[in-house]
Order: sequence, then structure tokens, then C-alpha cells
Amino acid sequence: MKGIILAGGSGSRLSPSTDSINKHLLAVYDKPMIYYPLSVLMLGGMKDIMIISTPEDKPRFEALLGDGSSLGITLTYSEQKDPNGIPEALTLSEDFVGDDDVTLILGDNIFYGQGFTTLLRNAIKHHKYATIFGYRVKDPRRFGVVEFDHRQKAITLEEKPNDPRSDFAVTGLYIYDNQAVKLAKKLKPSARGELEITDLNRAYLKRGQLDVELLGRGFAWMDAGTHESLFDAAEFVKITQQRQGFKLACLEEIAYYLGYISREALYNKGKSMEKNDYGTYLLEIADRKHTQQYWDSIDRNPMLGLVE
Ligand code: DAU
Repeated sequence: MKGIILAGGSGSRLSPSTDSINKHLLAVYDKPMIYYPLSVLMLGGMKDIMIISTPEDKPRFEALLGDGSSLGITLTYSEQKDPNGIPEALTLSEDFVGDDDVTLILGDNIFYGQGFTTLLRNAIKHHKYATIFGYRVKDPRRFGVVEFDHRQKAITLEEKPNDPRSDFAVTGLYIYDNQAVKLAKKLKPSARGELEITDLNRAYLKRGQLDVELLGRGFAWMDAGTHESLFDAAEFVKITQQRQGFKLACLEEIAYYLGYISREALYNKGKSMEKNDYGTYLLEIADRKHTQQYWDSIDRNPMLGLVE
């Protein structure tokens, strides 16, 4: 399974904040936005990940994350010249995807909730064709919307409908089989001139090959694409982190507990930034026993299949 993060776009909704910097490099509280979707793919078990951004911004992502080796993963980068639509991520990454299946995540999507790692790993393990994730929202008109039957089978999919048929938004996390690249190539731009991810998902739906996983009420999903949602997301991260003392989307912590990097590498990274809160957090993990116990009991439990 390959992973792709789409982090291009025009960022016009966040102008002027994004006039000279890519949206996905803006901070969501204490770390760049791209850390959040990258943490999702890492927790999902992906080690081979492509980041797609604009030609101007690609070097900035490379400067931030490098080749991924400091996290024990492999990162490659590609360019999307114009924001032609989300499915273009699949055609641009055709060579990278090769014969594999692929999980695509939008660079401004934040997921958080107990059991998410297990849910995602199971969805990846059991998916046959395409799996999308539905989440109940108050204003579905801002999103792709999925309507499903009592067996949780999707019936209709619509992009930003004026009159939504359900309250379930389609989140920006998509698991596809290898057909996705071929199907994405056949898509035509919508009335607003973009290739629509909803049309790709509809192609799977038509074939009877679309599964929907629902993220329940104890779960947080946000996209940080407007000033308001970016502020809300930052506030959510701040409050959650301060309450429990665990950081969300701390890539080095995830890499360490997944066994990708050594305690020494974690310690050295923390040491290199010990004057700030992120660095001291890494140092704490490298030292602290009870954090280890937490991971051992919950997320690294071999019963959950997280440790090979
Ligand atoms: O966040 C989930 C929603 O994302 C879904 O419910 C919708 O079905 C889907 O169309 C999308 O809607 P948005 O209105 O949020 O899409 P937006 O144009 O804001 O782009 C989402 C992310 O993808 C954003 O981080 C920018 C990036 N992007 C987008 C396009 C169209 C690109 O990198 N390139 C693109 O061409």
C-alpha cells in the first residue's frame, strides 16, 4: 500500500496568510499542518509516501521533511502545476503507485480519536476496491456527501449539494485499489472546472465497489481550509494536548513507537530542539517509562496487529 498526501491547491480561501506560503505549511497550533495527514498515513502502516504540492512549494516540503529517513520512512515529492482537482493526485503519481493499492489523504485533514489506528489498519487490510470514511457534520453542504442504506452501503454521492440527502460528509481520506489511476484518467472536469474526487468515488459506486466506514461521535475530524476551521483545529489540538500531555501528530513519537527509529535518534532530535516544547516532549518520551507502557498496552498490542 502506497500513501499520497495532496498538499497543493491555491489556498485562496486563506489569503493573505497563504499569499507567500503553502497552506499546509501553516502551523496548526504547534506543528505544520502537513504533520497531521502524514501521521495518519504512518499510523496506517504506510512507509512509502508521496507528497504532491505546487512547483513553488515542493522545495519547502523537502526542506521540512527531507527523504523521510529521519522518521524511518521514504518520502518522495511531486508537483501539481495547477489545482485541477483532487483526482489528479492519482494520475500524477502513476509511476509511484505502480501495481500497488493506494491511500490518499488531503493535506488539510485532521483525524483524531481512540481506536483510529486500528480502524484504519483494518480498513486497509480488508478493503477490496475503494473505502471512504463518513462523518456526521452540522453543515454537510460544504463537503462531499454520502447517503447510505441500513447496511451502511452507499447509495448516492454528491459534491457540495445545496440540498444534502444525509448529514454524512465524506472525509478527505480514501483507500483505493489499483484501478483508481485508470478511473481517474477517465474523469472529466465538473461545472466548476475541476476533476472531482466525488466523481471517482461515484465510478466505484456504480460498479458496486464502494465501501463506507463511519467515524462515530467520539471522533474528531476537521479540515483546516478556512480561517475559522484553522483556528478551531488549532484550539482543539491545544486543548487536547494540554489536558492529556500527549501530542497529536508528533511524527517522531509515532516513528519511535512503531519501531522505525531508535531511542537514541529520538533523543538526539529532542536535544536539537530542546529549547521548545516540541523538543522537550521528545526528550520526555525518550526518558519516560509510563508513556512506553501506554503504547505497549493500547496501540502496540500484538492482538491488534500493529506490530509484525
Ligand atoms: O475535506 C474533505 C472534502 O475535501 C470532501 O468532503 C470533498 O468531497 C472534497 O471535494 C474536498 O472538498 P474541499 O472543498 O475541502 O476541497 P479543496 O479544494 O479545499 O481541497 C482540499 C485539499 O486538497 C486542500 O488541502 C488543497 C488540496 N488540493 C485541492 C485541489 C482541488 C490540491 O492540492 N490540489 C487541487 O487541485
